[in-house]
Amino acid sequence: MEPIYLDHAATTPIHPEVIKAMIPALEDVYGNPSSVHHFGRRARQFLDEARRIAAKSIGAQEKEIIFTSGGTEADNLALIGTAIANQHRGNHIITTTIEHHAILDAAKYLEKRGFRITYLPVNESGQVELSALEAALSEETILVSIMTVNNETGVIQPIKEIGAILNNHLAYFHTDAVQAYGLLPLSVNDLGVDLLSVSSHKINGPKGIGFLYVKDGVTIESIQHGGQQERKKRPGTENVVGIKGFAKAIELVMIEMQDRNKRYGNYKQLFLNTLDEQTVNYQINGVHTIASIANLSFPGTNVESLLTNFDLSGIAASSGSACTAGSVEPSHVLAEMYGSANETTINSIRFSFGAANNEQQIKMAAEKVAAIVARLTKDNDIR
Ligand SMILES: Cc1ncc(COP(=O)(O)O)c(C=O)c1O
Repeated sequence: MEPIYLDHAATTPIHPEVIKAMIPALEDVYGNPSSVHHFGRRARQFLDEARRIAAKSIGAQEKEIIFTSGGTEADNLALIGTAIANQHRGNHIITTTIEHHAILDAAKYLEKRGFRITYLPVNESGQVELSALEAALSEETILVSIMTVNNETGVIQPIKEIGAILNNHLAYFHTDAVQAYGLLPLSVNDLGVDLLSVSSHKINGPKGIGFLYVKDGVTIESIQHGGQQERKKRPGTENVVGIKGFAKAIELVMIEMQDRNKRYGNYKQLFLNTLDEQTVNYQINGVHTIASIANLSFPGTNVESLLTNFDLSGIAASSGSACTAGSVEPSHVLAEMYGSANETTINSIRFSFGAANNEQQIKMAAEKVAAIVARLTKDNDIR
């Protein structure tokens, strides 16, 4: 029995067209894009084309795209790079308690270096309240970083409304759009964001590549030092193979966005409907969520036994963000939504749907989940 992959929020399979697009960059376009000769110029062409495609996908200019090694680096560069370059204007940064650790840990790093960080709470629905942001803003605030879609719950944040509030404020606005990009249309001008992070491996591209959008005029300082690449904001020889594959993945996702949204949303609905048919006791964590993610709490169970039993029956899901998956730590996101003592933080599973799925698999996976949950809750009742 083939295992069923329901962990697309952790990473996605590479699209066959993306693999095909990368082959020339692996086989014969091996020049260094910084070299002026023929070999370098060919590699530079790949880079220029990819930058055009990436910029177009969010309504940006080519010079506003900085290729990075992925979402984590884009987030670190956005937070630390902006903080350092703008510390003469103030030392206050606002983010949320439910960000990915790429943001939370970068914020902690800045705190140790004298920056003051406000972590906005979320309500039970998993959303940041605009009034809390307004109350936290001060003349000292130089940066606000709020994710577009949460990676554990799939909850969509009110980015456009936040952008409108910050329009009247000197603080720059960064959004980690890693889980949103490719499923939600994102126009940087429309959203009013100054910086935006994207990762290739969440959209069926290769791992280890991403980009940070930095609006023209926003000053950031490089967090690494070396060559002149990426307008000196991200020195280091570019990952031409990864960038070539990423560009293809972007092209495909821009054409297929609506279709993918519909397909993944249908998978989610089918999964939930099947659980309902089997009368499973569950609760959906988060309101107003992206099509691809369902975070479900199963009362009377716990994450470790759920994940172990799922894995034994060939179902790959996750307890939260990939970096903490498998660990016994309760979800920091659910703890913020419901309180750290709430049972939900230790009995919830993230199922995320995508290109590796079909309807038959989804139904079968939900039936297996139902049987496992029934068995585990019965075991607990007996004890
Ligand atoms: C919201 C969010 N931000 C950042 C990252 C990190 O991206 P990467 O794996 O490309 O470093 C992830 C990956 O799980 C994510 O979900």
